[in-house]
Amino acid sequence: MRQPYQNEQTAAAKPLLPGTTIGVLGGGQLGRMIALEGVRMGYSFVTLDPAPQSPLGQIAEQITAAYDDVEAARQLAEKADVITYEFENVDANVAALLEEQSYVPQGSRLLYTTQHRLREKAAIEAAGVPVAPYRQIRSLEELTSAAAELGLPCVLKTATGGYDGKGQAVIRREEELAAAYDTLASTGAELVLEKFVKFACEISVIAARTPSGRIKSFPPAENVHVNNILHLSIVPARVPDEVLKRATELAERVAAGLNAVGLLAVEMFVTEEGELYVNELAPRPHNSGHYTMEACTTSQFEQHVRAICDLPLGETTLLTPVVMVNVLGQHLEEVIGRFGQPDELAEDLGIVPKLHLYGKSEAKVNRKMGHINLLCADVQSGLDWVEKTKIWRQD
Ligand SMILES: Nc1ncnc2c1ncn2[C@@H]1O[C@H](COP(=O)(O)OP(=O)(O)O)[C@@H](O)[C@H]1O
Ligand SMILES: [Mg+2]
Repeated sequence: MRQPYQNEQTAAAKPLLPGTTIGVLGGGQLGRMIALEGVRMGYSFVTLDPAPQSPLGQIAEQITAAYDDVEAARQLAEKADVITYEFENVDANVAALLEEQSYVPQGSRLLYTTQHRLREKAAIEAAGVPVAPYRQIRSLEELTSAAAELGLPCVLKTATGGYDGKGQAVIRREEELAAAYDTLASTGAELVLEKFVKFACEISVIAARTPSGRIKSFPPAENVHVNNILHLSIVPARVPDEVLKRATELAERVAAGLNAVGLLAVEMFVTEEGELYVNELAPRPHNSGHYTMEACTTSQFEQHVRAICDLPLGETTLLTPVVMVNVLGQHLEEVIGRFGQPDELAEDLGIVPKLHLYGKSEAKVNRKMGHINLLCADVQSGLDWVEKTKIWRQD
């Protein structure tokens, strides 16, 4: 086992070269895609995941145990030279143990900040970057007065544990306050109320930062959610260049302000006036960066490996316009069927669909099973393919 690094300078002086074993907490699709790239680059992988045959466990060694199993985490630390994670809800005890027993270049501080919306917003603001107005909520009385201050509509969210729109409620009328409070307070989580941003669109910027402080970002993606689950990423985003430039600057400012290492995905709202508000952060590869796999000179997964290993960061140039569409459980059968035959629609539209599947056994409704990167001459032809296949229709 590698001796823990004493400080960032030591880490920076010693890149982790191919041959190193990378331990990944979590064996889902993000871990799998990190490993697919990392293995190509000559790294080995071991994962800890509670589900046997996890997406990453299918292609790497797996320790099957609960995420808060400290003994299993110790085993992971023994097998790996460096540890990363593919989700932010890492148990605090496990994070502390891993930091002590192994090398976790991303650090537990970044997790501590990003696993709690109030801490995250405070850190973003401290970096001089705007978020939507918000209030901490500890009672129905506080919610009532905060809603009056911020104005309706508002979004009440649990500060921890939310994903894909879970753990949040949009409040449009005063009469909805009590029910929203009861539902979310019953989770036991702390709550935060945000002003509802009437955004023109949502974008995200994924920045990579090395232990020695170098930063490089991917081109911003325009993100379309359906039922709060990411449906499409469109790149280049259909937003003025000046706004995209500013978005990139803000994302890099947040990454530097948080001393982030590895990838930091920064989700933002863009208003009609071109104002930007950061919505939330993810200290890991992000669904809205899957487009990079074929459309950029370096994928977000390769970049993550480079960043945590303190290698030079890869170029992030966009090679082609691209539309990424998520494949959820209810889309899987038709998508797979389509890929068994020539895609005349794609040929007519002049696009090249690249299918990625995560190896999950059960295709549950709304479960992310894979995605397709549609490489196209212009993003409209990619969007036309999504519409004309009718696989993603909402009825
Ligand atoms: N303050 C807000 N104003 C407007 N829309 C919001 C706001 N907060 C969340 N949303 C919508 O809900 C989606 C999911 O919320 P988010 O905070 O990103 O949680 P999750 O962890 O589920 O991704 C956002 O992508 C956005 O479409
Ligand atoms: Mg989100």
